[in-house]
Amino acid sequence: MENSLLPRHVGIIMDGNGRWAKKRLLPRTAGHVQGAKAFRKCLRHCADIGIECVTFYAFSTENWKRSEDEVNAIMDLFSDYLDEAIGMGEKDVSMRFIGDRGRLSDKLVRKMEQVEADTAANTGTVCCLAVNYGGRDEILNAARKLISDGVTGDDITEEALNERLYTAGLPDVDLIIRPSGEQRISNFLIWQAAYAEYVFMDVMWPDFTEKDFDLALEEFATRNRRFGGV
Ligand code: IPE
Ligand code: IPE
Ligand code: MG
Repeated sequence: MENSLLPRHVGIIMDGNGRWAKKRLLPRTAGHVQGAKAFRKCLRHCADIGIECVTFYAFSTENWKRSEDEVNAIMDLFSDYLDEAIGMGEKDVSMRFIGDRGRLSDKLVRKMEQVEADTAANTGTVCCLAVNYGGRDEILNAARKLISDGVTGDDITEEALNERLYTAGLPDVDLIIRPSGEQRISNFLIWQAAYAEYVFMDVMWPDFTEKDFDLALEEFATRNRRFGGV
């Protein structure tokens, strides 16, 4: 595929785990277990085909509304993934975690920091995992940083705010893929997606394969992006 037709930054809303499980008369947590496997596969595929940056939405600032059991199960799966990433350093992938770490356990945060440090020098795909992430929370947080950095008046520019987002230094998101049939953004990368293309797919996230990712890339390549121009 021609390089200009390939998105630099892909965002993926990993949705549909619960419905996948329900359809099979399994507990919702079983859907999250399968979803975690789909995540590993999809990240590997992104790295293999040379995607510059991919952000996966794993847990939103609103997902705390769920039962304690479900939240704990998701956090445990996240912890298992971190243990695995510490062991193998995700090879060529550079891992970043975006979201508010304040509500995550100290143990989890220490592991996240270790994975980030272990993979910081990797030069392949940058993978952001969004955990306790909310776009509004991110923008509020950036606004607070502007104030604490003493930035005022005309110095408050798009660049100045952008530099204070969790995604600082990364390109705007070009393509957002949402499986599960829902057609909404659910507080994901709302600043960064100002000119993103959206691909909604009916597949549930646990069933999402490399082929589905490639189909979304093909769809993206057909879009005519104008960014307000003609
Ligand atoms: C996405 O799947 C995982 C998280 C939001 C953590 P869901 O759990 O939202 O699955 P559905 O939407 O209920 O099917
Ligand atoms: C978005 O999915 C969050 C993640 C996939 C992590 P939700 O299932 O929480 O979104 P809504 O509630 O359907 O909008
Ligand atoms: Mg959902």
